[in-house]
Amino acid sequence: MFKKLKAHWKVDDINLLMIIATFALGGSLCGYAGRKILLLTDLEKGPVWFMLYLILIFLLWPVCVLLISIPLGQFAFFKRYINRIWMKISGNKKDKINHREVISIAIFASGAGSNAEKIIASSKNNQVFRVELIVCNKAGAGVLQIADQAGIPTLIIKKERFITGDNYLPELKKHQIDFIVLAGFLWKLPVQLIQAYPKKVINIHPALLPKYGGKGMFGSKVHESVIANKEKESGITIHYVDELYDHGEIILQSKCLVDDDDTPDTLAQKIHALEHTHYPAVINDLIKKQNRS
Ligand code: GRF
Repeated sequence: MFKKLKAHWKVDDINLLMIIATFALGGSLCGYAGRKILLLTDLEKGPVWFMLYLILIFLLWPVCVLLISIPLGQFAFFKRYINRIWMKISGNKKDKINHREVISIAIFASGAGSNAEKIIASSKNNQVFRVELIVCNKAGAGVLQIADQAGIPTLIIKKERFITGDNYLPELKKHQIDFIVLAGFLWKLPVQLIQAYPKKVINIHPALLPKYGGKGMFGSKVHESVIANKEKESGITIHYVDELYDHGEIILQSKCLVDDDDTPDTLAQKIHALEHTHYPAVINDLIKKQNRS
């Protein structure tokens, strides 16, 4: 039963324990508060008392559980859990697509974060996906400030634990991440992480893969090479992530012209404009499609 719950809620042992503790303590607090409130009335225990007690439990339970969930580190889980119950009770499908939930995504980024910013902006009032976590390997990266301004939790990761440890999977599970978007994240993803999210990790590359991809091909190096090779066009590639750098199945490519007077900087601007237009839309469409199948 515990195994099923863990899989259903996508949590590890410790979080499952905390969730169960929150249910138990929240429920007790709610019963206690309900009885105390009824003591303020002159009602004798009987059918009316019992009815009122049930109504109070119904009203107090979410408050008590949310209160208890804060010190036990489960607020995000219970906020979502209560929201789900409310959706069911009210019959409101606004927060769902095809009766399935809004998908929680994590953005892995370590740079300025302009793509992350656009994705976050498009996720506001979006009923398909929500950015729940920014994962970054560089303290001081611009993307962290963007996350702070948007009120999105951040996770700074260390290479050893990411590559050879638990790959930070427990943290991703804690935030109930369903889908991973790389946007300027330079480390290769460990196989275990990719396997934990089959067809649910995508990347954007600032060139038309398979050209100008692979280890060391990032940032202005890509644009310098494109210009040095006198390419007439460049563009972006959005692709699934596999065990190799810039290699997985291509989802979308979009092109721009490389003019004779383009510099790596001007080309980077054209590429960024393409990225900002296409990446949020592709994420949206892909998740919607995956959710339907
Ligand atoms: C983008 O050009 C993307 O293609 C590459 O890294 C860059 C990140 O830029 N993978 P930003 O940090 O989103 O501005």
